[in-house]
Amino acid sequence: MRTRRNASAHAGPAGDAAGAVTGHDRALISVRGLVKAYVTLDATITAADGIDLDITAGTVTALTGPSGSGKSTLLHLIGALDTPDVGTITVSGTEITALGGNALADYRRTVGFVFQRFNLLPTLTVLDNVTAPVLPFKTSYDVPARAKALLAVVGLAGREHTLATRLSGGQQQRVAIARALINQPTIILADEPTGNLDSATGEEIIELLLALRDTQSATLLIATHDPDLAQRCDQVVQILDGKLV
Ligand SMILES: Nc1ncnc2c1ncn2[C@@H]1O[C@H](COP(=O)(O)OP(=O)(O)OP(=O)(O)O)[C@@H](O)[C@H]1O
Ligand SMILES: [Mg+2]
Repeated sequence: MRTRRNASAHAGPAGDAAGAVTGHDRALISVRGLVKAYVTLDATITAADGIDLDITAGTVTALTGPSGSGKSTLLHLIGALDTPDVGTITVSGTEITALGGNALADYRRTVGFVFQRFNLLPTLTVLDNVTAPVLPFKTSYDVPARAKALLAVVGLAGREHTLATRLSGGQQQRVAIARALINQPTIILADEPTGNLDSATGEEIIELLLALRDTQSATLLIATHDPDLAQRCDQVVQILDGKLV
């Protein structure tokens, strides 16, 4: 049985005061001193305000915090969908915040993103939504076959040719999860994956995500308001006003 770890967010790369190394060397993902500010007409919002975080390979981390606290921002930064103003993100020993061009594109392909608002392409079928991320690339596997297999895993066998917008919210979220998995990612970033779902469907999605850790040794970071989901993760980190608390 898995033990639930305490948050390993900490003040610096040297580890905590008790001398336990918090995993800079062992962590798959190491975030250090991350700052991201958004400048708008009325205000400058520091959505990430000096974040340090370590995530061990093969674990599930819940990222909790109130609306506007910076959860999506942190996920976007770790997924290299956005760039920080200050700080570093190191993944498998490579500082991804220093990458550009092809190397950055290669990194992005190791990450599966489940977006807060699904972001499915409304004019495409379920199957085409799942295959879309890898269409531009040469792959070592049969893309439609893999997409169909993933849709079966998320309980959508037989719905491959339905337009994505014809599905219920929970079904669309499952499509989004299948799409995030198409490229066999080692890291899965899920932004409130149960946020728009009823509790029974949310429970199925939770089971599905936690199974990825156990069956595919994936490393997951899940932004969530859902206490049931958070307490089933290996590590829970809380963010408030862009700071881990
Ligand atoms: N592109 C942007 N431009 C301006 N401000 C932004 C932008 N993206 C995020 N913000 C601001 O940064 C802060 C953090 O936003 P973020 O979306 O990361 O919060 P969140 O914790 O994911 O919230 P929620 O739980 O509502 O999804 C908020 O105050 C938000 O208004
Ligand atoms: Mg968000």
